[in-house]
Amino acid sequence: MIPVLICALVSLSVAETNLDILYPELEHSRTIYVTENGPKFNVMAEQAKVVTRRGGNVTLPCLIQREQQLPPSRKMRIKWTKLTSDYLKEVDVFVAMGYHKRSYGTFQGRVQLQGTSPMDASLVMTDVTLDDYGRYKCEVIDGLEDDTVVVSLELEGVVFPYFPRLGRYNLNFYDAERACQDQDAVVASFDQLYEAWRGGMDWCNAGWLSDGSVQYPITTPREPCGGRNTVPGIRNYGLRDKDKSHYDVFCFTSFHKGKFYYLIQSSKLTYDEAVRACQKDGAQIAKVGQMFAAWKLNKYDRCDAGWLADASVRYPIYHPRRRCSPTEAAVRFNGFPDKKHKLYGVYCYKENN
Ligand SMILES: *[C@@H]1O[C@H](CO)[C@@H](O)[C@H](O)[C@H]1NC(C)=O
Repeated sequence: MIPVLICALVSLSVAETNLDILYPELEHSRTIYVTENGPKFNVMAEQAKVVTRRGGNVTLPCLIQREQQLPPSRKMRIKWTKLTSDYLKEVDVFVAMGYHKRSYGTFQGRVQLQGTSPMDASLVMTDVTLDDYGRYKCEVIDGLEDDTVVVSLELEGVVFPYFPRLGRYNLNFYDAERACQDQDAVVASFDQLYEAWRGGMDWCNAGWLSDGSVQYPITTPREPCGGRNTVPGIRNYGLRDKDKSHYDVFCFTSFHKGKFYYLIQSSKLTYDEAVRACQKDGAQIAKVGQMFAAWKLNKYDRCDAGWLADASVRYPIYHPRRRCSPTEAAVRFNGFPDKKHKLYGVYCYKENN
């Protein structure tokens, strides 16, 4: 019995080997078979992100790849949407089907297809705003086929922590949105705060971010800021109640087209006098975001404390020096002084027309 069994096993393995020799391409041809029955087209982006600045123009790449033998389809629909920062919704940006094209909301008149070929679904966006920052989805629908690709639009700019005259930890999420807007900025995203932290930002007060979370960046761990024996990083309080929770906020702003300047005056001013002095100069009292943008992006440097629109007093130091900002480049903050009795200079902002 035993020799017969061994014999059977041997012949079995010989048979398997023969099969391999006879059909060496079996595995390979199976792979090809799957590809042939896969999608007839797909979309791709040469870059996963594009970077511009406020006021700039940008192209969000999206290329359609189809089987060669298929003619371009007239019914092909191209749809661009923007994902909200909490990823819960999509906002319509642009739709094209044949000759019919439509753009939506704040994108009207600012977006169009690049259209270098029938296969080019890239979107050209002009006069980019702070609100345009985020992720965009290119979706192409052709009959039953459907494919998407996501592209990030990033902005060069600056993140700054902010709280209003009302005091610390006084803003719910919606107040925070308004507070940044009032200072020519938007609520920063986590990615923007992360970049700022990598650039050395250290701030021991928790602030809202655009996804509804509350966080703060620490580069030098210490006891009141999450503990002395912790690693540097972004401390995260998680998602907070947008109505009932109150914190500061991290704002983000980018380049502006106007002129930011210190108004030379023969004497120091109260807040109301400062507002009027800028108006008399054909300008407006500058906003906090405009000072941060001038400082960080245009290296604006001036060792004179001046009023800003929110009735805070600050001055931008790009080159650290004694008596101004000895150890670091920073926008120095003198708080929110008495508007009627304290006297300072003023920073103005003039739109270029
Ligand atoms: C953006 O494009 C518009 C229209 O094509 C053009 O007029 C403008 O100069 C461009 N802006 C920049 C910053 O390149």
